[in-house]
Amino acid sequence: MGYQAYIRSFADHDGDGMGDLRGIVDKVDYLAWLGVDAVWINPFFPSPGHDHGYDVSDYVDVDPQHGTLADFDELISATRKVGIRVIVDIVPNHTSNEHAWFTAAVADPTGPFRDFYIWKPPAADGGPPNNWVSHFGGPAWTFEPVSGEYYCHLFLPEQPDLNWQNPAVADAFDTALRFWLDRGAAGFRIDVAHGCHKDPLFRDNPQLRTVTPNMSPRAVFDSFDHRFDLDQDTNIEVFRRWNQVVEPYGAVLIGELGAEDAERAARYVADGDALHQLFYLRSTWLEWEPAEWKTSIESLQAIAPGGVSWVLSCHDRPRPATRFGRGVDDQRAISRSLALSTLAMVLGGMPFVYQGEELGLPDGNVDPNSVTDPLAARFSQWAGEGRDGCRTPMPWDSTPNNGFTRGEPWLKSAPRPAELTVESQRDDPESTIHRYRDLLAFRHKTPQLCEGQARVLDLGPSVIAIERPHCLAITNLATEAFSVDLSTLTLPGGPWHQSFSSKNGVLEAKNDSFSEVAAESTSIYLNGAPS
Ligand code: GLC
Repeated sequence: MGYQAYIRSFADHDGDGMGDLRGIVDKVDYLAWLGVDAVWINPFFPSPGHDHGYDVSDYVDVDPQHGTLADFDELISATRKVGIRVIVDIVPNHTSNEHAWFTAAVADPTGPFRDFYIWKPPAADGGPPNNWVSHFGGPAWTFEPVSGEYYCHLFLPEQPDLNWQNPAVADAFDTALRFWLDRGAAGFRIDVAHGCHKDPLFRDNPQLRTVTPNMSPRAVFDSFDHRFDLDQDTNIEVFRRWNQVVEPYGAVLIGELGAEDAERAARYVADGDALHQLFYLRSTWLEWEPAEWKTSIESLQAIAPGGVSWVLSCHDRPRPATRFGRGVDDQRAISRSLALSTLAMVLGGMPFVYQGEELGLPDGNVDPNSVTDPLAARFSQWAGEGRDGCRTPMPWDSTPNNGFTRGEPWLKSAPRPAELTVESQRDDPESTIHRYRDLLAFRHKTPQLCEGQARVLDLGPSVIAIERPHCLAITNLATEAFSVDLSTLTLPGGPWHQSFSSKNGVLEAKNDSFSEVAAESTSIYLNGAPS
């Protein structure tokens, strides 16, 4: 199991209110106790911070607010001691507008860095060159008065998109990847992996519905078919090249993939010579929608078996305890998350939990005057689209600022109650954190969960069933228990014994062909002699 540490909010070592690499070093023992195998750290490179680190101004250094290169080296050595790998978050679609490449590109339109970015003359009416819109609102083009050209940005104007048609850009990224690999990174989470290349003709995206002035940035974005700005076939070539770079290090490439279509997403991992795994973003958008979960998991399992790093949450979307908790009590929302996290253990890829998911944490409460996410801060009328709620500091204990910092936290939020802190849950064997810890321990001692080929079984509309030669996982998404007679299934193995349930953890092994999977839970069965 991987663990996402949102560095800004994970742990602050130096007391300046901002999480840092030394803070993660301080918590390595915690991560080892929980049983994680790898930690993905959000961008910690120098950045003006307009998009909280996703506007990088230097790919081969550490932002002073997050520490130093020596701190990174210390993190590598501390994690190696306990067998945890470090995954670095790399941002190839765009840089910061303060990156030296961009400032040179603006200062000297005939110089070598101009072509690192995407420049186009205005349209005939003087407006943007085409109809592309930014994820964060407004056009995906900003006018640059000195040269009289527009530059492209699929996110903020402060995040100009790189021109991946330019071989010098690819060379620069090879260098950055090797820099972190040489320092001990075990792989990369690739931001907006479906970005990078754009349509060479920069054609208008087909419009799906009329855009009206009162639409949110997300609704405007969704009003277009993004066939020309995203997910170009040539993107895969970028990762074929990266695959060659990381191969000698045995490192892994996990791409953030926004492609809605499972078939298209699967292309990035299909031949094993580009990305190794996908973060398939749809799973961070879904609420508790059983039919949607069933289709998403089964279709990707059929097309890209083992190619998905399943995630329920990340720093961009409401947490599962919030998303799955609408209209039901907190415990039920947590049970639903655990059911899906347990199923993820047999799907073949390395699943990730987002910091705090192991506590069953709902979104934090951020005062509207304290919002910092550009989505909310720049469009006050769309504050609800902001991502601050899922980014509030990790609650370690019940001291001030829940033990995250002894300073003023960079993001102010309401204190968390004691029962949602690591300190109190560690002492309570019935708590959510122990459920996750038991699950991770079970996965470690049960290699059968990933061995052999996985097959999707059809056991009904509200059930997801995955069978491997020596294990069977049944997720019941319905609100009533699901009864199954294992002896009637055409499975090669047997006898089967239920070994784990997302409701009760590890179970005492007993061979019984009849089983009942509780509502909104996952049961895992093993065959052969109970261990
Ligand atoms: C990814 C990141 C998100 C960021 C965006 C632009 O989706 O997860 O936080 O704002 O890319 O870099």
